Order: sequence, then C-alpha cells, then structure tokens
Amino acid sequence: MIEPVVLVHGGAGDIPDERIQPKLDGVRRAAKAGYKALMAPGGNVLDAVVAAVHIMEDDGAFNAGHGSVLNTDGEVEMDAIIMEGKNLHTGAVGALKDVQHAIDVARLVMEKTPHCLLVADGAKRFANEMGVPDYPQENLITSFAKDALSRHVKGNTTVSEIGWTGGTGTVGAVAIDENGHLAVAVSTGGTTGKMPGRVGDTALCGCGGYSDDRVGAVSTTGHGESIIKLNLARDILARMEQGRQAQCATAEGCDNLKEILGFTAGAITLSNRGDVGVGFSSKRMSWAYKKGHEVHYGIDPGQHMIDHDPKCS
Ligand code: GLY
Ligand code: GLY
Repeated sequence: MIEPVVLVHGGAGDIPDERIQPKLDGVRRAAKAGYKALMAPGGNVLDAVVAAVHIMEDDGAFNAGHGSVLNTDGEVEMDAIIMEGKNLHTGAVGALKDVQHAIDVARLVMEKTPHCLLVADGAKRFANEMGVPDYPQENLITSFAKDALSRHVKGNTTVSEIGWTGGTGTVGAVAIDENGHLAVAVSTGGTTGKMPGRVGDTALCGCGGYSDDRVGAVSTTGHGESIIKLNLARDILARMEQGRQAQCATAEGCDNLKEILGFTAGAITLSNRGDVGVGFSSKRMSWAYKKGHEVHYGIDPGQHMIDHDPKCS
C-alpha cells in the first residue's frame, strides 16, 4: 500500500515579496482540497487533481482561470491538460476563451472525445455543447494582469513566466492513491503579451504534464517555449526511468533547461511509490503537498515548512 499524496505548485517565476503570502495560502488550500477529494468516498486521483486546480484557477494570486495573464489583444486565452497514469488517457485545451475552469474542459476532452487536444473556437464550441457555461472575460481579468500587460507593452519586462516580475504562474497538481494510481492536471493563462493563438507547454502532453503509473507524474511551469523544446515533463520521467530519485530528476530537468536554453522552469513530481520531487531554477516557486496529517510547503529555494493539519481528509 502506498501513502496517498496530493502535490501542487502555483507557478515558477521572479515572484515579488508581496505576492509570497497569497501564493503560500493558495497552494496550501489547493493541496488540502485535492487531498479531501482523493479521500472522499468514491474519490480518485482525477477528482483530486481537478479539485486542487479549481482552487488555484479561482484564486487571483495565480496565472490560471481568474488571474490569467493577457495576450497582446488584452484578452485571456487559457491552456490546460489532464492525464491519467493508469491508461495514459489525456485531454487538453489550447487558447480557450471565456470559461471559468479550463481544466474542466480538458477533462471533458479526455472523457468525451477520441482526441487529446482541442483549441480555440472548436474547444469553446465543444465546451458549450457539453454544458460548460460562458464566463465573461471581465470576470477572468484582474488589475494585476492588466498592469502586467501595460508594463510589457512599455518594454518594462524580464522574460519570465508572465513577462515582467513573474508575479503569477501556471498552476498544477499531481496525485497518487493507495494503489499507486497517478494523475496530473495543469492550467494556465500562458505568458503576458503572447500573440493571440499562442499555445504553450501546458496544453502539450509530455511538456506541461505527464502521468504514467509505471514511472510517475509531473507538472511543469516556467518558460513555455523552452519546456516544449525539451519535453520537460517527459524528460524528468525519463531521468527516473534511468534510476534517478524523483527529487533529483526534477531538479536536474529544470537545471538542464536553464543550462541549454537560458530560461527558467519549475516542476513537481510524484514517483509511482509516492516519492516527492520539487525543483525550480527560477527565483521562487510556490508548492505544497498533503500527506496524512501533514501539509508541507515552501516558495524559496531550500525552504520546507510543515503544518500539522488535524483533518486527515
Ligand atoms: N481522449 C482521448 C484519450 O484519452 O486518449
Ligand atoms: N508555462 C506556461 C506557458 O508558458 O504558457
């Protein structure tokens, strides 16, 4: 028997000090919500990763759902992926507008279509046909995202996950149950000032996420184009197949991306035994996991704090 774990991240980047607390609060809430869904009667790893991602999609502190960053038209276009390790089933959406939870549409693509990825208008039409209601742009857009775009347009930008200070980031979750079944869910608004129609790593299987019960599950965050080039999620799992521990493989994968391409990334990993890996080459990445009564979390390099959570579910 394996001890169940739900592990989440709130995005890698150059996160400013004033954004630390909202992110740490959000990732802890997400890990707890995911764990609760996993331990509920009939709950499973897919429910767990979706519940965790919902919390962060609804929290304006993160670059997903409400809080997503803006493209050059000033609009939100979201990418998301879900994957089940038992059977390699997967579903994803790219450049999807006007829904509250892009991850729900990714799950519908997985469960209700023969396809793995739907984008833009086709993804939206499918979402509506499946009963997902419209959620207007103005409900998704925060003043923080508008500010990030106007700084980006003025050229006040570092190349980070959101285009300037990196204050928000892609969200993701991985979960394992007592039988060793794994799943991953990832959701993002992408990068500030991206071209309309740009689809990043988060929608692409093996890049933004991957889950395979024979090895492990990974969710990545950071510079999307670099993550695509190196298939970062699958790269980390390949390192584990070669004998690396989850922690070592995760850190090595992110460091390798920085070394080869010069951009930063982060990732969270669970091995098929429930070993945890958290790594990032960016300045910060918020992460948290719940295992039994403990919630582990951090945001700075090397930081690892533990809360005792009396509620086991
Ligand atoms: N939705 C198709 C698949 O999971 O393979
Ligand atoms: N890693 C998120 C993106 O580049 O879209």
